[in-house]
Amino acid sequence: MCGIVGYVGSRQAQDVLVEGLRRLEYRGYDSAGVVTLHDEDLKTVKTVGKVAVLMDALSRTPLRGTVGIAHTRWATHGEPTNENAHPHLDCRGTIAVVHNGIIENYVVLKRELESRGHQFRSETDTEVVTHLIEEYAQSMSFSDAFFAAIDQIVGTFGIAALCVTEPRKIFVARRGSPLVLGLGVHRDEFFIASDPSAILTYTRDVIYLEDDEAAIVSENGVETFSLDHLKKEKRVEKIEWSLEEIERGRFPHFMLKEIFEQPKVIVDATRGRLDAKNGQSVLGGLSDVAERLRDVERLTIIACGSAHLAGAIGEYMLEEYAGIPTEIEIGSEFRYRRPIIDPKREAVIAVSQSGETADTIGALREAKGKGALAIGLVNVVGSTIARETEAGIYTHAGPEIAVASTKAFLAQLTVLSLLTVFLGRQRSMSQATGQRIIEELAVLPEKIERILAQNDRIKIFAKKYAHYSSALFLGRKYNAPVALEGALKLKEIAYVHAEGYAAGEMKHGPIALLDKSFPVVAIVTKDSVYEKMRSNLEEVRARNAPILALASEGDDEILRLTDDVLYVPRTIEMLSPILNVIPLQLFAYHMAVARGLDPDRPRNLAKSVTVE
Ligand code: AGP
Repeated sequence: MCGIVGYVGSRQAQDVLVEGLRRLEYRGYDSAGVVTLHDEDLKTVKTVGKVAVLMDALSRTPLRGTVGIAHTRWATHGEPTNENAHPHLDCRGTIAVVHNGIIENYVVLKRELESRGHQFRSETDTEVVTHLIEEYAQSMSFSDAFFAAIDQIVGTFGIAALCVTEPRKIFVARRGSPLVLGLGVHRDEFFIASDPSAILTYTRDVIYLEDDEAAIVSENGVETFSLDHLKKEKRVEKIEWSLEEIERGRFPHFMLKEIFEQPKVIVDATRGRLDAKNGQSVLGGLSDVAERLRDVERLTIIACGSAHLAGAIGEYMLEEYAGIPTEIEIGSEFRYRRPIIDPKREAVIAVSQSGETADTIGALREAKGKGALAIGLVNVVGSTIARETEAGIYTHAGPEIAVASTKAFLAQLTVLSLLTVFLGRQRSMSQATGQRIIEELAVLPEKIERILAQNDRIKIFAKKYAHYSSALFLGRKYNAPVALEGALKLKEIAYVHAEGYAAGEMKHGPIALLDKSFPVVAIVTKDSVYEKMRSNLEEVRARNAPILALASEGDDEILRLTDDVLYVPRTIEMLSPILNVIPLQLFAYHMAVARGLDPDRPRNLAKSVTVE
């Protein structure tokens, strides 16, 4: 997601715009830009890096003008560079656009516009909007051209546009990405923003645009429309929230906000990538290496922390459903153990939210040095791992602000399942199996919503277990790494000494820990190892350890074996980690809060570990 700000009034626009961008930096921060319209001329300053870099550039070359738009970027298409930073201009430099969202049909639109002579400067999807408006404006008013261009877009957008022919107006439209209009206290200046935090300094009177609505904002006021350019009345609302509340939305912490964003993360990670008809996943980022991947006979996944645990689940997926021997490796170990790699038969997959984890980068370079084909599964576009791999799949989780990985982990699992279908269908996976997985991915968001609806109940359990200083998390097969991830969450944000274990291993030692002071969190959802897990629960029960179980909806039998149960919807075994991890994320979050800790900023940890 990105941040958008716009202003028209009597102030110097750049001051309002940059302050607004600073408030929106939590929405994206890899590059930023401002454009103002002065003396019928558009002047732009764009920089790579955080808004502070843009502010420094503007201090040296200030932009004059009392109307302008600005953007802070979270890259989805095209690396963070000056050319790819917003705003984007048309061929003649008379139209400027900023955009938040993903334009799914930008390749088709770009080809058509290039065939009509339009010259593109960036790799972004957004730039097509500017040239599309320019094309239409050759035969109609700018206002009509703006609406005609918007009508051609497939995907999501929060868009703001300026044109030298309408020097005191800003044109905005919304579908799937938030936009709010601010009305100056004296109604002599007006604002646009991705969320009210950007304009709260100036006004609390706002109009929230809904999906498929547009507006023309000028110093004389705001006109609102439907996307088919019909007038639409909207009511003015008063912002009652504090600034801090707005940035986190209705949530007390970013971690909880990001856990609740997970249904949308599945949608974003699979957008344009599900081909249910053919039981295929569509992964454009692998197109250049698809034939080499067809011949790959062995995969090594390298990652750290939660990404490593996502990779461990990916190992099960890829072996069971793609039929490829796969090994998960911890980055910091792989690079020093002299791995044997056959460059003709092997590929490595680097999984990383930040794309900057030093241990994963080191391992990746070790594997590349031995000739392996290198694939990246990263969230940050243009990150080091994204640039040092030959191909890859962006996870599209959006910025993850909380240190503990939640939505990024879920996006990694989602993309690993898409990769499994991609590679499986190159091999012996049937169309029917591919369809089953693809169809289930499409309905996961609603199943996640059902789990999130249990948030208050999970909070009660977290309080009930908050006094314990240890815990053992147990799972089998696909859910063994989920047990380790649940334990990792409890360790890193609630500071509980939690162990995650493959349940079958319990009798080989950890069972000695169990007594009434040592609770067990067991993942015992209905799958191919369900009976084995029930046996493990019997063993735990015999030691009087308190048990909190994750079970499948409708499983009443489990009640006699446990003290507390959290039910999750059923799904196919391969995708069950995507659902099962969510109660564990919430359990750890509420345990941390119950213990008076800050889940967003746990002690000793950093969001991206860029040192060995
Ligand atoms: C997860 O909650 C942790 N914050 C940490 O283990 C993280 O997953 C690990 O450092 C890897 O980070 P990356 O995904 O950015 O490479």
